[in-house]
Amino acid sequence: CMKIGILTSGGDCPGLNAVIRGAVLKGIAVHGQEFVGYRDGWRGVVEGDVIELPRTSVRGIAKQGGTILGTSRTNPFENNGGPEVIKAHMERLGIDAIIAIGGEGTLAAARRLTDAGLKIVGVPKTVDNDLDATDYTFGFDTAVEIATEAIDRLRTTGESHHRCMIAEVMGRHVGWIALHSGMASGAHAILIPEHKVTMDQIATWVKLARDRGRAPLVVVAEGFVLEGMDAPHSERGLDTFGRPRLGGIAEQLAPEIEARTGIETRATILGHIQRGGVPTAFDRVLATRLGMAAIDSVVEGRWGTMVSLHGTEIAHVGFEEALGRLKVVPQHRYDEAAVLFG
Ligand code: F6P
Repeated sequence: CMKIGILTSGGDCPGLNAVIRGAVLKGIAVHGQEFVGYRDGWRGVVEGDVIELPRTSVRGIAKQGGTILGTSRTNPFENNGGPEVIKAHMERLGIDAIIAIGGEGTLAAARRLTDAGLKIVGVPKTVDNDLDATDYTFGFDTAVEIATEAIDRLRTTGESHHRCMIAEVMGRHVGWIALHSGMASGAHAILIPEHKVTMDQIATWVKLARDRGRAPLVVVAEGFVLEGMDAPHSERGLDTFGRPRLGGIAEQLAPEIEARTGIETRATILGHIQRGGVPTAFDRVLATRLGMAAIDSVVEGRWGTMVSLHGTEIAHVGFEEALGRLKVVPQHRYDEAAVLFG
């Protein structure tokens, strides 16, 4: 019987455990497969560090946030890794194929390893919903739900104090979480990386809301760049992985809004709360279906592909279709939301 290794890699995301459970339950029930989990993403793969995943290990975990396997941002081509090392560990452990659950970076690495002859299928993961070739990624719905709830709460305290409230949500490169949580909560302005606006425009939206007796509510994605600035928070430097340090645009905007409008303004950064805790039912179902479909990919030998959502159906697409470009918020979706600003 076939033995499959599963890994979760990159930033975590509600629904990861539901993918693992879907894959393990289907694999055992339908194909009599065996499963192991690699610990902490590619680190476990390059070090051959695994845990057994019997049926009992996935009991009741669909509703559990995080990942029971742990995750890391390890690159499998660095850290003494590479295809030969990984193959040797797979042979030693009797692992025939790998299911890699991850985002852009994980799938790009999986693609290179597949080119080197490894048997890998992918499951797309990102709370940002910015992966191409899939209509939705699990975790996004949960993040939007958490952000919307938090923004609703900011609104009531903002109204009591006649303040402008700014909520900063996740979204390093794209504004899907900001767009959806902003629309859901009735924000007076939504600011996303795909669409530059000026400080004057933001101040105009804020004043319009105040003039109608509302407590202005601004939702901003962490990667938002003001018109006239070339990079978000470039002065904040790089994190340990060489990525620009984000978080804090809301705090930059608050004094500017106060200065231009005279309205007392408070900033709240939601941060990792958006990635924690219980996944929504939508995300559990999507994640479970993707996990089960990954088993079909393995059985059919579709190496170098990932499972994805097309409309309401699960599809199989080549890694190359998903990689290289982000799924950004299209202009018409922003314009649609902006009709209600101010
Ligand atoms: O890609 C998902 C994401 O949550 C982004 O929205 C955010 O910029 C980044 O991960 C945060 O990464 P970390 O968990 O490493 O701080």
